[in-house]
Amino acid sequence: MSITVSAPGKLMILGEHAVLYGYPCIATALSKYLFVEAITDISKDVLFTPGISNQSFLRSALTIFRQNYGIKKYINIKTRSELGNYGLGSSAATIVGALKALSRLFNIPLSDKELFDLAYEIAITVQKKASGFDLACAIYGGTIYFDGRTKKVEKISTLSLPMIAAFSGQKRNTVDMVGYVEQLKQEKPHFIEEIFRSIALLVEEGKKAILNCNWKTLGNLLNKNQEFLVKLKISTQKLDQMIDAARKAGSFGAKLSGAGGGDCMIALVSLEKKSQVIQAVKKVGGEVLDLITSVEGVSVL
Ligand code: PMV
Repeated sequence: MSITVSAPGKLMILGEHAVLYGYPCIATALSKYLFVEAITDISKDVLFTPGISNQSFLRSALTIFRQNYGIKKYINIKTRSELGNYGLGSSAATIVGALKALSRLFNIPLSDKELFDLAYEIAITVQKKASGFDLACAIYGGTIYFDGRTKKVEKISTLSLPMIAAFSGQKRNTVDMVGYVEQLKQEKPHFIEEIFRSIALLVEEGKKAILNCNWKTLGNLLNKNQEFLVKLKISTQKLDQMIDAARKAGSFGAKLSGAGGGDCMIALVSLEKKSQVIQAVKKVGGEVLDLITSVEGVSVL
């Protein structure tokens, strides 16, 4: 028997880094997927994962799943990724996709919470420090409010946000960026804690704005969140240019999304201004990604 599942990627809307210190964030699942096919094998484990450079998440998922459920069989796993190298959550989608496929293959029912707890154990084993918001996006789908302390997930929308995302062309390792902010926090604990507390207030406002579909307010909150990320010195010149271009072309607001140092920016934009904003972001070298948000979480196909 062969099982295939799809797990969506994610984008952070508000609250990156602060969420690692117990504050909440808002993130959304997006319409780019990682597909995982799992099948039992008679002689050895076979992992065929084109486009996934680091197999540690998958290997760790296999080991921990086997240990937890006493599985002795060999497994053959194939993946196909639409997530590219844009920082859209391919590691999280890999963990979630693999666990979901394995649980179906071996008839071990897992609730979303059980799936999250297992996935989080794997993420922490490999990455040491992670909030788990990306795993929650891949599991629950939609646009979620995620509590960094309790790991509680609240789905606040299943409608696609009026948003564009664009890749800066720059890559920085999330672990390095997390380490950099951690060091900053050790050097200036009060200053950084104050920034995180302020970001958390923006997240609370953002939740209300999304529930009320108030995009102008949400856009302002994106701008304010970006100011704090600039203070943390995790934005880049290229991201700043793209964000500035999006704002000048009439978006409601824009910010970087994720750990920073590169990867993607997001902008909230009305339908009328959308093509104008896309053109402006492209003009400064941004690679605009074609996607919708708040999509369904991991699914067996
Ligand atoms: O770089 P990304 O898109 O994986 O986002 C990282 C967000 C952080 O808050 C910096 C880390 C985390 O695990 O929440």
